Amino acid sequence: MGFLLFLRVFFLLLVAGAPTAQAWGKEGHYMVCKIAEKYLTKKASAAVLDLLPESAGGDLAAVCSWADEVRFRYRWSSPLHYANTPGVCNFEYSRDCHNSKGVQDMCVVGAINNYTTQLLSYGDASSGYNLTESLMFLAHFVGDVHQPLHVGFAEDAGGNTIIVHWYRRKSNLHHVWDVNIIETAMRDFYDNDLGSMIEAIEMNITNEWSDEVSGWKRCSATTSMTCADKYASESIRLACDYAYKDVEQDSTLGDDYFFSRLPVVEKRIAQAGVRLASLLNRVFRKTEEEEVLQLVVQSVDEAHAI
Ligand SMILES: *[C@@H]1O[C@H](CO)[C@@H](O)[C@H](O)[C@H]1NC(C)=O
Ligand SMILES: *[C@@H]1O[C@H](CO)[C@@H](O)[C@H](O)[C@H]1NC(C)=O
Ligand SMILES: *[C@@H]1O[C@H](CO)[C@@H](O)[C@H](O)[C@H]1NC(C)=O
Repeated sequence: MGFLLFLRVFFLLLVAGAPTAQAWGKEGHYMVCKIAEKYLTKKASAAVLDLLPESAGGDLAAVCSWADEVRFRYRWSSPLHYANTPGVCNFEYSRDCHNSKGVQDMCVVGAINNYTTQLLSYGDASSGYNLTESLMFLAHFVGDVHQPLHVGFAEDAGGNTIIVHWYRRKSNLHHVWDVNIIETAMRDFYDNDLGSMIEAIEMNITNEWSDEVSGWKRCSATTSMTCADKYASESIRLACDYAYKDVEQDSTLGDDYFFSRLPVVEKRIAQAGVRLASLLNRVFRKTEEEEVLQLVVQSVDEAHAI
């Protein structure tokens, strides 16, 4: 009886597909995409649904960690998850956006611009891109660029080589920001329920932060369509002010660190979600405008032919 109950609970958990910890980690990306889904326009929502692979079951959040899964199969994509600065607290595209071989644009900011441009060809049958992949990459990288240590210092690989203790467990600073802070928050405040954590963040978006949200979305067309360079600048600033601050090799990070950094993590997840939605909304509004334009051109041509 006890065992059967155990089995039932076990299978229920399996069916619920409670995402398990992984390199932002799986939970972080899931939350970003869940929040984004809420803010998509009808047009963007329809385009996303059209592009999602069958395995997503119509849920963008289900494939938001796909880019991590293919990171080693598509080895070239590995540097697209981050950017490094030479130990300074600002981001400069021309200086910092390259892979280890020095190939320009091969960083998280370049990738966001790249996949955004590809998605603009949605509806154009001659587009040679796999837009399903473009969408899954974009959704993931907009999350990554908001994780402060995905724009960290080159010398410590965004905190990866800084070994720390997270409470009593061995970890590294990068992993603390990808996974540990979120996991501890889930356990201590949200009963290990990702849905409750998402709700709490959404509540803040509509109340606590409502005055700031239009500022998050603002992206002047003169810089770039994505504003990803701006998000990277914010991240390295936060990395210096919060992530790296008061941490050295073998530091033990506990309550003080957790309580002062968790609000930063939650706000970055919120910003990433809101901005991902607003980027997709702009992309798919644009593609529609172009379609309309093409139709007009076509009908003018046809009129001439007659
Ligand atoms: C742009 O996307 C293509 C197709 O996935 C990829 O081969 C290329 O490396 C990407 N470049 C950047 C900067 O993301
Ligand atoms: C596009 O990419 C997805 C994910 O990698 C893959 O499953 C699908 O087969 C690709 N589609 C085409 C037409 O290559
Ligand atoms: C909500 O906002 C308050 C005030 O900024 C912050 O202290 C709290 O951590 C936030 N909670 C979540 C879940 O974002």
